[in-house]
Amino acid sequence: MTPTLSNHLLTRFSDFIAEKTGLFYPRDKLKNLEKIMTSAAAEFGHQKAETCIRWILSSPDQAKLINILILYLTTGETYFFRDRHVFNALEYHVLPELIDQRRQTNPKLKIWCAGCASGEEPYSVAILLDRLIPDLKRWRISILGTDINSQSLQKAESACYGNWSFRNMPSPLLETYFEPAENNRFQLLPSIQKMVNFGILNLVNPIDYHLTSKIQGSDIIFCRNVLMYFDPVRVKQVIDSLYGYLAEDGCLIVSPAETSQMLFKQYQAETISNAVFYRKGNKAAYMAPASPIAQMSSPSESALTEIGSKIDPEITVESGLEKIRVLYAKGHYLSALEKVLVFHEKNPNDFLAIQWLIKIYTNLARFEEALRLCNKCITDDKLNPDLYFLRANVYQESNNIHEAMRDLKKVLYLDSGFILACVLLGNLNRSQARIEESNRYFNQALSLLSKSADENPVPNSEGMTAGNLKKYISILTRPDS
Ligand SMILES: C[S@@+](CC[C@H](N)C(=O)[O-])C[C@H]1O[C@@H](n2cnc3c(N)ncnc32)[C@H](O)[C@@H]1O
Repeated sequence: MTPTLSNHLLTRFSDFIAEKTGLFYPRDKLKNLEKIMTSAAAEFGHQKAETCIRWILSSPDQAKLINILILYLTTGETYFFRDRHVFNALEYHVLPELIDQRRQTNPKLKIWCAGCASGEEPYSVAILLDRLIPDLKRWRISILGTDINSQSLQKAESACYGNWSFRNMPSPLLETYFEPAENNRFQLLPSIQKMVNFGILNLVNPIDYHLTSKIQGSDIIFCRNVLMYFDPVRVKQVIDSLYGYLAEDGCLIVSPAETSQMLFKQYQAETISNAVFYRKGNKAAYMAPASPIAQMSSPSESALTEIGSKIDPEITVESGLEKIRVLYAKGHYLSALEKVLVFHEKNPNDFLAIQWLIKIYTNLARFEEALRLCNKCITDDKLNPDLYFLRANVYQESNNIHEAMRDLKKVLYLDSGFILACVLLGNLNRSQARIEESNRYFNQALSLLSKSADENPVPNSEGMTAGNLKKYISILTRPDS
């Protein structure tokens, strides 16, 4: 498209947008703004971008027009557990400490996700709190997601998401917190959905006093991947106002691309598990790790001894592994790791414990340790399909799809009745757009599942029933998916 608008008009319009929304179109990107306005013009009843822009600039009801314009101007890219470093730091350091502080005297937390788009971020926080706080009912938890884009917020309210939103979410969490829904989508459990409220709020001009009173005194504010779209003047203005909304000792989280020593001067920057947190107030030496294991890249002997002293002195095989299973199912991976390492030290040849270690390392994204264990086990027992299946999972989680598929084929070569290997191969082929191949594996899985009663658990699936797995496959293979 050849730009037809005068630079003068576009500059005026970009200044107007920056003033009203913060969104920034630098002088060398004005053509992008023109393209956007060319597609938006029809929505406002205009044929041309130019007449539409002039009409908006002179309209007495600009606030209403901005609400529509924003649907064209904003980028709502987001997903669950975006940025593993941040969520690891929250799970193992920031939240456990905060929860411990508040538990006895003041069991409440206030969390605000500013610029939350379709809600994956505040719901990730709700899932995290559900896993970290066993007596959640006793707590007053406020999680508020706000955004300037009303359509994104509608999607957030529905709490129903497609596969792409889960690209960074450990699969056990998907199974625990979501139900399969229509059109190959997943519905968040109502108990988690109702932990989060949403509201429309423009960060540059937060005039909704009802909402602003809700965010005043926030313990944690997320404002990630929002400021990067703002013009420099508004960035500073918003950073200062977020400071005002934080509780004493509260912290602000932005994305790695938005960190800056200059802009966040009034905050105290702390790096926790490779994530930067900007804290209000001047709490010194924040964050003793919640668990000694959190700091270990590999289990040193002294650390193991220390951990061991905090854990049941006598762990029998059944009780020990059952506790690990429960912790794992709840997503308490570090606590599970503590226990399994102690158990493994006492029973180095126990294969079940090694399997747990591999699964836990994988969920903690400690792929090297998981692979090291897999490779060692495979060297000792080359014909065991379970081991190739475990390694395929590690490869899959670390995005090494080719290796994952190679291992899954080995699993089926060694055991043609391995249902989950068929399902994973079905999934992976589908993700590579090889639909025919994918359907072949899903059909193989369905034929194996037909031999089992619906209520029977599927081997290697951590409790998923044959009936649920059939449902899952039928959703994935529907013609419209
Ligand atoms: C890329 S998304 C970030 C979503 C989420 N925070 C994340 O990091 O995954 C940016 C969001 O900021 C919102 N946004 C842009 N300008 C805003 C403003 N002035 N006030 C509030 N939200 C705004 C957009 O509507 C969009 O949903």
